[in-house]
Amino acid sequence: VRSFSSSPAQHAADVKSLGVIGAGQMGLGIALVAAQRAQVPVMLIDTSDTALSKGMAFAERLLAKDVSKSRITQGQADEARSLLTPSTKMEDLSSVDFVIEAVPEIPKLKLDIFGKLARICPRHTILATNTSSISITRIAAATTSDPTDTSASSRVIATHFMNPVPVQRGVEIISGLQTSKETLETAVEFCKKLGKVTSVSADSPGFLANRILMPYINEAAICLETGVGDRDSIDAIMKNGTNVPMGPLQLADFVGLDTCLSIMKVLHEETGDSKYRPSVLLGKMVDAGWLGKKSGKGFYDY
Ligand code: CAA
Repeated sequence: VRSFSSSPAQHAADVKSLGVIGAGQMGLGIALVAAQRAQVPVMLIDTSDTALSKGMAFAERLLAKDVSKSRITQGQADEARSLLTPSTKMEDLSSVDFVIEAVPEIPKLKLDIFGKLARICPRHTILATNTSSISITRIAAATTSDPTDTSASSRVIATHFMNPVPVQRGVEIISGLQTSKETLETAVEFCKKLGKVTSVSADSPGFLANRILMPYINEAAICLETGVGDRDSIDAIMKNGTNVPMGPLQLADFVGLDTCLSIMKVLHEETGDSKYRPSVLLGKMVDAGWLGKKSGKGFYDY
């Protein structure tokens, strides 16, 4: 890993290594895309060896699929695989140039991680979060106990990838109050190197993607709960009428009903606007443990 000056950010061309925290669906997808597209070594961090092995096995399945479809050669797949290093130690991020955190959406967990990253990573490293709903300003503030010292918080930014990361091209980039212009430019450039199309949004509840998508999903749930249409009619009209790959209820199952509900709660609570009131049915389904595809039952059975 090259060493850099202590300037707060550098160009994406200077990003010679990446750290990804969280080997779940999102983290693994980001790590794999970085290995394949930017061809940089990726340190993949998770708390358990089991999570890391599961993530690596998923990466291998995706690479094998690309080989079987003749999109890449076996040599290219081996090379991408060799760029991924799993580790359970956050300290292994002590020389990476760019970090993307993709752990579950639990505020305290993310804030603790950013406090640690500010201590572990070099002073030039970009510290990105894949949060879908937590304020970037708040995450950046967790890097320091002295709010006037922005040496770390100016390097914090959100790179919010869409699921599944290897398939969806869009990434929204969100600056906090403390984020520097250089950090924003480097993050945008780096995401472009990953083959992504970037959108820049303000640090506002739900940012852009979920501010628009979640009320759409929520409205579909309200249409179901109030009998405006049945499940299949709701999904069929949106799928066949607007050419989206999934109707809103199927998409809700794909994203996870708990995630949809929690983002609606953030929109509702942080704006105080009743137009974001979460669907009662959505709340009841989460209470029942019907979380969508991952739990085997949601609006559909899996
Ligand atoms: N990881 C990697 N690749 C995946 C994948 C995953 N988890 N799931 C599916 N794919 C790949 C498949 O391998 C397949 O690849 P090939 O073309 O190389 O064979 C391709 O996607 C298509 O998959 P399928 O043929 O199995 O199924 P499909 O055609 O029905 O597509 C889908 C599945 C890609 C998920 C598609 O339905 C889709 O794009 N749905 C909408 C997803 C969406 O809106 N995502 C955004 C969610 S919102 C969000 O992410 C933000 C947030 O904060 C909540």
